Amino acid sequence: MHPLEEEEQTRIVEPCILVIFGATGDLTSRKIVPALYNLLHDGQLPSLFACIGFARRPKTHDQFREEMKDAVSKYSRNKPIEESLWNHFKDHLFYHVSEFHEDAGYEKLKKLLQELDAKLGTKGNRIFYLATPPSYFPLICQKLHSSGLIYDDNQVKDKWSRVIIEKPFGHDLTSAQALQKELLHCLSEKQIYRIDHYLGKETVQNLLVFRFANSIFESLWNHHYIDHLQITVAEDMGIGTRGKFYEEAGLLRDIVQNHMMQLLSLVAMEPPVTLEADAIRDEKVKVIESIRPLQKSDVVRGQYGPGLVNGTEVVGYRQEKDVSPQSSVETYLALKLHIDNKRWSGVPFYLRAGKRLPKRTTEIAVIFKAPPSVLFQKAQIPNVLVIRIQPDEGSSLKINCKVPGPSSPIQPVKMDFRYGAYFGTTPPEAYERLICDCILGDSTLFARQDEVLQSWKIFTPLLEMGPEPFPNYAAGSWGPSAADQLIEESGRKWRLI
Ligand SMILES: NC(=O)c1ccc[n+]([C@@H]2O[C@H](COP(=O)([O-])OP(=O)(O)OC[C@H]3O[C@@H](n4cnc5c(N)ncnc54)[C@H](OP(=O)(O)O)[C@@H]3O)[C@@H](O)[C@H]2O)c1
Repeated sequence: MHPLEEEEQTRIVEPCILVIFGATGDLTSRKIVPALYNLLHDGQLPSLFACIGFARRPKTHDQFREEMKDAVSKYSRNKPIEESLWNHFKDHLFYHVSEFHEDAGYEKLKKLLQELDAKLGTKGNRIFYLATPPSYFPLICQKLHSSGLIYDDNQVKDKWSRVIIEKPFGHDLTSAQALQKELLHCLSEKQIYRIDHYLGKETVQNLLVFRFANSIFESLWNHHYIDHLQITVAEDMGIGTRGKFYEEAGLLRDIVQNHMMQLLSLVAMEPPVTLEADAIRDEKVKVIESIRPLQKSDVVRGQYGPGLVNGTEVVGYRQEKDVSPQSSVETYLALKLHIDNKRWSGVPFYLRAGKRLPKRTTEIAVIFKAPPSVLFQKAQIPNVLVIRIQPDEGSSLKINCKVPGPSSPIQPVKMDFRYGAYFGTTPPEAYERLICDCILGDSTLFARQDEVLQSWKIFTPLLEMGPEPFPNYAAGSWGPSAADQLIEESGRKWRLI
């Protein structure tokens, strides 16, 4: 049996209780609770399981259950909701009222956990999911620790406690280092599961299989055959109701420092020695460590002005709700990165990400070197391998082909693989896989502290770049013209998507 298959078959979920801090928030209702329901639906939740929502608004268990039922009906991938399954699920769903700073709230939580352990047989195993504003991460961990809810994993071997931390992990290098230091007072690194939901996506996980289980790709995966790579994370949406969040974060913190770095490190890493979490993460960190420090000339920042998206007139970023009319926050970034190692010497990685672009798409494109035009007179179009992360998950390979007929012109054609069409199912949501992995104690798909800190090292200097003449691109366009110059100065072009 293949080692990957063997690993899948031996994964055993242990009984546990999941406590969601921030249970009245958007993430809980849109992602976390629907993911739990889907895990139950697919038989992947432990049979001995409970979930407690922790938040400050007074409500009863039943009110919380009703709200979560509405959320699951709306956001679950499996629709309609199955009444019998829901009834089972709801009996394992509880609500606990407390402010995050209240010691008494943690004492009461401890009591509730012990009662549920006795009633449901959950054996003292805990996951604390911090779906809260990031400023609360240290406080909650401190309170969990001081109330004895986090076990010392050097001493306690018959039960476990783990903490899932949402993004963002810090807002620059200094704050990320400070947060890490605070967390380590209460937890060991092994107990910390930093979510980057991109890592939970099937297509992102498939990158490893694609590269290392197919010798035809891996043997070409280097500077001898690859001209450059382009990674695109495009959104047609604006910032919606997240103006306050965006004014503090901007696109660099929201997308580039975390999600795009994960994509880049998976596509560029060396083969790991095993499929163990740390073996994979060791190789990812080496890639990030090899990134050459960014120069100002490698970066284009942008912010959208008013424009037309999919035929609809939309306002500019500065006119969005909760956004300053003078805001200098970026909603677009294009970057040229170099990875200074043997494999990638001389191969630029072009990254672009933006809001209010013409369409929503996330993809990695590997542009191979063009073949020499010795046999065929006309210059050949280079082969392009595109890995589509979302939507329409799959991959395509552009190859040159002879057009039928006597004159023999050559034309590029596309071989296309689509997950949905081939496997006939929608892939599970990223949060399903990540929560399941945390229950299993598998941290492969979670970011390790050195990955996060190294990434901040690269990008923190960009946060200090001076103000720009914003807005500099119209909503519905592919970004500022300077982004075209960034790639065109080397004779290359952004892909038409
Ligand atoms: N939403 C997303 O799509 C998304 C995506 C990626 C990452 N994230 C991350 O996930 C986390 C949660 O995001 P969210 O959008 O769900 O936030 P949110 O909607 O603002 O929810 C925050 C939750 O924390 C609770 N809370 C805040 N202060 C509290 C206090 N002092 N005591 C007790 N409860 C308190 C809120 O309760 P009240 O309702 O009473 O205020 C609410 O339940 C954030 O770190 C965010 O960056 C979110």
